[in-house]
Amino acid sequence: MPDPARLDRLPEWTALAKHREELAGVRLRELFAADPGRADRYALRVGDLYLDYSKHLVTEDTLRLLRELAQARGVAELRDAMFRGEKINVTENRAVLHTALRAPRDAVIEVDGENVVPGVHAVLDEMAAFARRVRSGEWTGATGKRVRTVVNIGIGGSDLGPAMAYEALRPYTAREPAVRFVSNVDGADLHEAVRDLDPAETLFIVASKTFTTIETITNATSARQWLLAGLGAGEEAVARHFVALSTNEEKVAEFGIDPANMFRFWDWVGGRYSFDSAIGLSLMIAIGPERFREMLDGFRLVDEHFRTAPAEANAPLLLGLLGVWYGAFFDAQSHAVLPYSHYLSKFTAYLQQLDMESNGKSVDRGGQPVEWQTGPVVWGTPGTNGQHAYYQLLHQGTKVVPADLIGFARPVAELGPELAAQHDLLMANLFAQGQALAFGKTEEEVRAEGIAEEQVAHRTFPGNRPTTTILATELTPSVLGQLIALYEHKVFVQGAIWNIDSFDQWGVELGKVLAKRVEPALTEGADVRGLDASTATLVATYRSLREQ
Ligand code: F6P
Repeated sequence: MPDPARLDRLPEWTALAKHREELAGVRLRELFAADPGRADRYALRVGDLYLDYSKHLVTEDTLRLLRELAQARGVAELRDAMFRGEKINVTENRAVLHTALRAPRDAVIEVDGENVVPGVHAVLDEMAAFARRVRSGEWTGATGKRVRTVVNIGIGGSDLGPAMAYEALRPYTAREPAVRFVSNVDGADLHEAVRDLDPAETLFIVASKTFTTIETITNATSARQWLLAGLGAGEEAVARHFVALSTNEEKVAEFGIDPANMFRFWDWVGGRYSFDSAIGLSLMIAIGPERFREMLDGFRLVDEHFRTAPAEANAPLLLGLLGVWYGAFFDAQSHAVLPYSHYLSKFTAYLQQLDMESNGKSVDRGGQPVEWQTGPVVWGTPGTNGQHAYYQLLHQGTKVVPADLIGFARPVAELGPELAAQHDLLMANLFAQGQALAFGKTEEEVRAEGIAEEQVAHRTFPGNRPTTTILATELTPSVLGQLIALYEHKVFVQGAIWNIDSFDQWGVELGKVLAKRVEPALTEGADVRGLDASTATLVATYRSLREQ
């Protein structure tokens, strides 16, 4: 268990602060010049992933001091407690066992004395059987037509995981049935998703751990109306067109979905960690159960690495510690994730929930305010688009933004030779950006190009901007699983160091409660006096604009 003593008063922390002062003025150029083996030594292989961390503002001493901090904070002990199924989510008194979702059939992992693994595999088997029926056309809608489109209705962890992975693994999908994702309570989301669909050929998957989330239940209710109106059918049609993914059988039945069409999971699966559970059903329909299993095995591979690799070679530990280093000692407020893969277009959005909902906390596990920086703002979009938008700030701005550059050695086979030929250009950009960020361009180099003196400062690049480069041969289901697990455990490590509960999300509650209170005030003539002055004025303005 993490030492609840104040992090910033630990001798390991003080040692790091002192070390940081000693490193003031250190240049990546100098670190590389002094150590010809740096690029080779500051690299790790984990499964199919190659991680280069040589372009970080660290030395052997930094890494050792960071590992000592991890040891002082009991990161390994908390990790083992998580894998054992102990209730490390203290504010909700729950186990944290997304790792059990990818455990092999013969594993034994107990929660309250019960082995949860058989249940995990029973649901995976049910999902596989259902996915096969939908994919083959054996499962039909109420009029006997096969399913051509699956619409996943969910939000947060019940949307981002499958939506991201569906994009990432598009080349592995059957292409039909296609999958669409509806999350926003803005009716436009559902409208655009279904406007060109035939209800007779549409299957809705209502994904909600709690089955009480207002956005999801509202959209699902509208979807049911759309379906029944379109089919001109009665309630009995719902059973052929709606399935549920949830932990809450009672609410599913209340909504009108037959519990026989419900795929269950458990309270020890956090929403943002739920994508390997029944929440992955839409993805499984798209890529098939075998590919889904390959993905789970990829997760599992990194789980085992995290559990067993020594600290010096433990990738999630290392990435987590680097983030702590920059947040605490370089005042880095954000972290950019920049995938050089079009298929990873939703990857950063997925990581935003994973990281920011987990570690966006300001009290520790005992409820005391923390006196140190916790989770960063995570942001980014795929390269090379970002290069023509916000990379200017990364290169020459005043802020330190550590970044992850993610790329693949091979484009997906389906591209064909002409489009595949563009891949080297894509990757050249990735390598060039890492190079420019780390090593920059000095004034002397600019002058040597004959640039006019008044332009020199503008065209100089300070460099020294840290990046991790993550490479793999190809974006396969297994590699995707490996990547996600890497980030899951990185987030875990940071939460353990900061001594925060990375598995609750109380910060989302207040807005939900207030929205329920504000909504009645939007009705014409309703009393707005209970609202604060600003909100009351906004509501009144909204009502009058609506009338114009
Ligand atoms: O509001 C935040 C949250 O609770 C997330 O943690 C969760 O992933 C999302 O809402 C959706 O919740 P549910 O799956 O219960 O609908």
